Formats: sequence, C-alpha cells, structure tokens
Amino acid sequence: MADRAGEVAAMKLGCCYYPEHWPEAIWAKDARRMREMGLSLVRIGEFAWSRIEPEPGHYDWDWLDRAIQTLHAAGLQVILGTPTATPPKWLVDQMPDMVAIDEQGRPRGFGSRRHYCFSHEGYRAECRRIVTALATRYGAHPAIAMWQTDNEYGCHDTVLSFSDAAASSFRGWLAARYGDIAVLNAAWGKVFWSMEYRSFAEVDPPHLTVTEANPAHWLDYRRFASDQVASFNREQVDIIRAHAPGVDITHNFMGFFTEFDHHAVGRDIDVATWDSYPLGFLEQFWFSAQEKQAYLRQGHPDIAAFHHDLYRGCSQGRWGVMEQQPGPVNWARFNPAPLPGMVALWTLEACAHGAELTSYFRWRQAPFAQEQMHAGLLRPDSTEAEAAPEVRQAAEVLAAIGAQQTAQAPVALVFSYAAAWVIGIQPQGHSFRYLELVFQWYSALRARGLDVDILSPDADLSGYRMVVVPSLPILPEGFADKLAALACPVLVGPRSGSKTDSFCIPEGLAPGALRDVIPLTVTRVESLRDGVNERAEGFAVTRWREDVASDLAPEWADAEGRGVVYAHANIRYCAVWPDAMLLGLLVERIAAEADVPLTHLPEGIRIRRSASHVFTFNYAAAPVFVPHLGETLAPASCHIAPL
Ligand code: GAL
Repeated sequence: MADRAGEVAAMKLGCCYYPEHWPEAIWAKDARRMREMGLSLVRIGEFAWSRIEPEPGHYDWDWLDRAIQTLHAAGLQVILGTPTATPPKWLVDQMPDMVAIDEQGRPRGFGSRRHYCFSHEGYRAECRRIVTALATRYGAHPAIAMWQTDNEYGCHDTVLSFSDAAASSFRGWLAARYGDIAVLNAAWGKVFWSMEYRSFAEVDPPHLTVTEANPAHWLDYRRFASDQVASFNREQVDIIRAHAPGVDITHNFMGFFTEFDHHAVGRDIDVATWDSYPLGFLEQFWFSAQEKQAYLRQGHPDIAAFHHDLYRGCSQGRWGVMEQQPGPVNWARFNPAPLPGMVALWTLEACAHGAELTSYFRWRQAPFAQEQMHAGLLRPDSTEAEAAPEVRQAAEVLAAIGAQQTAQAPVALVFSYAAAWVIGIQPQGHSFRYLELVFQWYSALRARGLDVDILSPDADLSGYRMVVVPSLPILPEGFADKLAALACPVLVGPRSGSKTDSFCIPEGLAPGALRDVIPLTVTRVESLRDGVNERAEGFAVTRWREDVASDLAPEWADAEGRGVVYAHANIRYCAVWPDAMLLGLLVERIAAEADVPLTHLPEGIRIRRSASHVFTFNYAAAPVFVPHLGETLAPASCHIAPL
C-alpha cells in the first residue's frame, strides 16, 4: 500500500476472516496466530448484514466493535466490507421485487447471496442507509486501513437483470442517450423485421425474444447494465469518502469476467483488487485437456499474471489480491490441491507485478454451509492447513526483498470490455472468444519473457515500445489517430474496426477508421469449425479468417496466397485468429523492430521484472533447467535476483 508520503511499501499479507462465524472466545487467539503467520491485514464484514442489523432499523454494533478492537489490538489492520452482497431475509420480504430477474424471467430467490437487482431504487436506498450507518460508526476508526464495496459485483451471473425496475431504468437510460425514439430506431436498424418503436416506453429488455434480439439492443442493454454497476458502486464510494476521508477504497473483482466495464468502476476506487483462484479458473475455462493436465495443481502460468496486469491498469496502477486460493476450492467441476510451494509462488508472483496486498481466502475453513469444502489457512479444527507454512515462507521472502516499485512495461496490450460484449453478442463462429484471444496474445508475449501492461483503449499509449490490440470491434473516437501518432510497432488483430458504436457495419467496411492508418478493406469474413487447420508456412489458420482487399502485398500469406498479415509503416493488421506459431512469429518480428530483447522461456517458466528485481517462476510440475539463469528450478519455485 502507498503510505502517506506516496512511497510504495512492501506488499502486505492478509486474510479474509468472519468473526461472526466463530465463538468470540477464539478471536484473540486467531488474531495472534495471524500476526505470527506474517499477516498484517484482515478483511471482515462483507457478508455480515444479518448480524449488523438483525431487525429492521436495530443495529447491533457491539460484536463488530469488539471484533475490530480485538484484531487491532493484535496489530492487524482491517479492511471493512460493506455487506450489500447479502441482503437479509427481512429486507427481501419487505420488498420482494428487489431481487434480480434472470433471462428466463425467473426471480432469483433468497438463500444464497447476490439476490438483488442493481436497478431497484428501494434496494439502493437500503444500501445507502446501511453503508452510511457503517461508515458513520467506523469512518474514523484507526484500525480501518481500507474499505471494500460489496463483494464481487456480477458473481453468479448477476450483472444482468430483467426486472421491471431494470426495464424502466433502461428506458430512461435510452431516452437520455438518444433523445428521440426515431434516432434510436435509425441507430439500431429497427426497420429490419418491423421492429420499430413509437416511444421509449415501448422498449423492453432484449430477452425472451423468439430468436436472437437485435444486437444493438443487446449492446445497449449491456452498456446500461454496466453503468448500473458503476453507479451502484459510486453511491457507496461517495458515502464512505464523506465519512472516511483519505482512507483507501477497493472492490474485489473476479477472474476472467467481463460483464461490466471494470475500467469505469476502477476509476471511482483507489485500489483495484481481484480474487485469484488459479486452479478453479484452469478447470472452468477454455484451457485444453493437455493444459488442464500439465497445470492441474499450479494453474496455467499466465492466469494470475494476466489478471495482475489487467487490474493494475484499472485503478491508476494501485492494485492487490483480495482473495488468494490457499488450497482446494469448492466451486469448480474438479477441485485439486495446489502443488506444495504454489501458494508461496502465487504470492510472490503478485509481488513481482506490483501488488500492494495479497490476502488469503480464508483464515479458517468453515465446517458449515455452502463453502465447507473450501480450504482455508486453518482447518475447521483450527490446526494449520498445508498453506500456512508457505504463507510464513512468503512473508519472510517479502520482508527480505522489501518494496517493489513497478516500472512501465515495454509492451502495452489494449483490453476492452465493450469488445468482449460485441463479440459475445455476435460471435459469428462459436470458438471466437474475446477473452481467450486476448489471453493467447498475452501468453505469447510472456512466453518470450516480455512484461506487459494491459490498458483500456482510452489509456495513454505513449512511451511503450510495442503496442498490441488483439481485437477492438468498436474503435473509440480518436483511437486510430492515437495509433497513427505512435512511432513503435503496433499489431492490430481481427475484427478491429468492424462495427460502429451502434453495432452496424461501418461505411467503407472494416476496419473502419483504421483504414486511415493501414490501407486495406475487409471484404468478407468466415469462421472455421473446430479442427480445421488451413496450413501456411510455419503456422496454420484456425477459427477465423478475413478476405482483405489492399494494394499492400501481404507480409504473411497462406499456402494458397491468401493474405494473413499486412504491414504498413509501423502498423500491422492480422486478418485471422492467429495460432500459437503465428503469434510467435508476430511477436518476434515486432520485438526485433522495436529492438526489445526476448528471453525464450522453457515450457512452464515465466519471468517478471519489478523496477529492482527479476523474478523467475517455475509453473511446471517437474524441475526445469532455465538457460537464462543457468540453473534448474524445482517445481513451484521462484528465483529472485536483483536486476
Ligand atoms: C469468491 C467470493 C468469496 C468466496 C470465494 C470462494 O468468489 O468472493 O466470498 O465465495 O469465492 O472461492
């Protein structure tokens, strides 16, 4: 965390703790043991509404006062969560229409969490009330080092709601955006299939249509839903700032999650944190059977790093890990245990990317309720679980290396939440997944030893030595000019510039405004079924390809002479879904042009530089000889050397 003078401090360790789950008699011992393990932060409170306000309007602060006091007395700083992810039963009974409605039109019931609709004004008022009460009581408390708003916005598929409240807010949102229904009809192309409206009052959310709804309708619904998350968060932030001026505010974002614009929410908070579950993510996402096998107990080597670099770009460079997997989780299809050493490795990887904190989820495994199969640092009987000694070990290493400043990386990778929405709404080929595309580009860079900053399309790209844009269907105003102004090599991927802001094909065709910086036109696109590999020299075209009309001769073509990559001045356009081989060729070419040295890393090895140190990680399940070190690294080990 940055201290008052703005100096970067060494990364702190912490844990997620639920005093309300345990007898008060053991709180003080828990706190002492946390300190003894090397922890200095403890996040509490984010699900405790039913204990803070057991009856409407009757607050019970005593237990929370004592819990905070006990933790503080042991030398711990508290991250206090607002409890709005878990509205209590009495509140849901008071206003049953506060729950979200799913895409099938069903209410999302009480009995787990996140059973609220972001658009429900009555629920928002209740949130303002409970957050005001909490912030009034603890805003000036010396134990509170940070506030967390809510918990994991969007978890369990809760960004979109199709409630009456959402429908009515959406109509207002559209009226503000378009002013006149005729403008909306024209922008969305509603003449198609006689879908025109006579007024904003006639517009419904885009669900339960017979076949797909208009993609522009969906895109605006996603934009609207994302804005609702941001404004819901902002209401809490404003209240906390008023009562706790100068105290940092965070929200804990998720992994591989694009349902709302995290750059927008990130602008309103001080520190972007995220919840890192590398083994659960490996199991749940698109990784191949081979990768799932090879990295079963380690997680793919880029899963944590990708999110570290993404979230560092979401909140002016300040970020951390709020929940770190300490052992098997309970929610993936299969839940293996980490290889010995991985918890320490994950901790140090966060430090290498400039995290201010890493906090483990959770202190003690709960013997009851939904997450009883989820590991903690302690077992339910309070004995230490396997991760505990690794936390101690990581704490020692962190103390030895001290604060790690983050330097600007040589590579900027442009990441857009709107791009994920556009491609998700109209994939055109079922294997065209935006997140997977971006992850593969990121991986190709990291496998060659490059550090990467992941940035929003609005970010300043100057000062980078290479810029890559895996796909950006809607180009923000001025984006092409921004690329044109760069002197470094720029690599732009398929589908970029292929849609207007209102989800139409641009005049003059794709890549839209990018045609001013690279003279080519995409005349046709096709998607390829799984298993199709169209051979070219040194690579294959899979999943997606575009026909390009241009006076430029292709820089790379396939065996039949169809252009694959085009270059003009410092700008390159890749007109296919590049496989790993083509990505390798592209990264090597632009790095050579940029004069950025590469380190070809063996399978499973990754490096990351802070401003003072280079960290080398072995994610493989076996020892690996690492040529740049001239050493063999044991599985799940980290080598740290001064730069
Ligand atoms: C996170 C969530 C935590 C806990 C954890 C289990 O998504 O924020 O409350 O449920 O997962 O892995």
